[in-house]
Amino acid sequence: MKLWDKGYNVDSFVERFTTGEDYILDMRILPHDIRASKVHAEVLQKAGVLTDEELSKIKIALDELLKLYEGGKVKIKIEDEDCHTVIENFLTERLGEIGKKIHTARSRNDQVLTALRLYYREIIKDITESVKSLIASVKDFSKKYGKIQFPGFTHTRKAMPTDIKTWSEALVDSLKDDLKLLKAVMDITDQSPLGTGAGYGVPLNIDREYSAKKLGFKKVQKNPIYTQNSRGKFEGMIMHALLQISLDLNRFATDIIFLSFLGILKLDVSITTGSSIMPQKKNPDVLELIRGYHHRILSNEIFVMSIISNMIMGYHKDYQLLKKVVFETFDILIDMIRAMDIVFKKMSVDEKAASEMMDDEIFATHRVYELVKKGVPFREAYRIVAQKFKEK
Ligand code: ARG
Repeated sequence: MKLWDKGYNVDSFVERFTTGEDYILDMRILPHDIRASKVHAEVLQKAGVLTDEELSKIKIALDELLKLYEGGKVKIKIEDEDCHTVIENFLTERLGEIGKKIHTARSRNDQVLTALRLYYREIIKDITESVKSLIASVKDFSKKYGKIQFPGFTHTRKAMPTDIKTWSEALVDSLKDDLKLLKAVMDITDQSPLGTGAGYGVPLNIDREYSAKKLGFKKVQKNPIYTQNSRGKFEGMIMHALLQISLDLNRFATDIIFLSFLGILKLDVSITTGSSIMPQKKNPDVLELIRGYHHRILSNEIFVMSIISNMIMGYHKDYQLLKKVVFETFDILIDMIRAMDIVFKKMSVDEKAASEMMDDEIFATHRVYELVKKGVPFREAYRIVAQKFKEK
């Protein structure tokens, strides 16, 4: 039964349309909602809404629900709409009147915000860890092949010498900056929305500091209108930090495709894929997909930022649409990082192919500087060396 059931029937298509995919997506946030509900029950006990005994019954029931969830025994039905309904219905089924008290001083609006933020915290930790293991793999690669020189490029034309250490550590440094940005974003979003209700507070004295602390939030998000408005705004910040990671992977995927085309990098056959018609092919599909998926994340970020603009204060159902793209972004990025990690573990450098590309042309700028060191003005030295390449 819906939480807002008032005794009339909802058109079955409208029911399906308005629930959307929430009954599937909410499975991810259900355990976080259970955790937050336990803390919320403590707040209600402190406010005198629940007795000690009622609180302990609610906590036991919520633990039971969590166990059922972990055992794969909880399903959200379309008629349930979302995970919040599952929790309240479960408590009411188990505890009768006591269960009916759990929604005191909360709305699904602050409830979903809380569950989402707890979930983000957890998944961002996983993403951070996988970026760190990618960094370790890139460093291993750099240790192994770092000294090998190869041409650096501008405009896809040979430019100046570089080496594998400089190239691979460009990715390391970039990912480290991304992690700093992600941490800064997580720091901003580390605010407890619980207790802001539908977006205008609740007419009951509740200890928001207590619930914030118990749920591990750095602070209480005080302004209830801003709290509601921050749905999507915070997701947008997170998505942008994640987009920076996917951008690095996108660009290095292109570099690897290019450098392996030149024969400098070698992809182990185990990370290449074939053609149904051309028997010789060993294609870098894995890198093309890393490159391509970045655009999906970019469009997801644009979706998030656009759907929340032009919105009047307070909750609107449009917010619900954020879940799918945000969750999808986490899933895609986790796979992209893992794929790149495997590439760095299975890739080698062909030293011979690299050194064969280190011809005269690549040292042109160095020749200029040899003259500069002898006292020739830069522009004159530039022109002297340029003469040699005029006909080449
Ligand atoms: N499933 C909803 C969402 O994700 C939960 C909040 C519902 N709130 C409401 N006022 N209808 O947005």
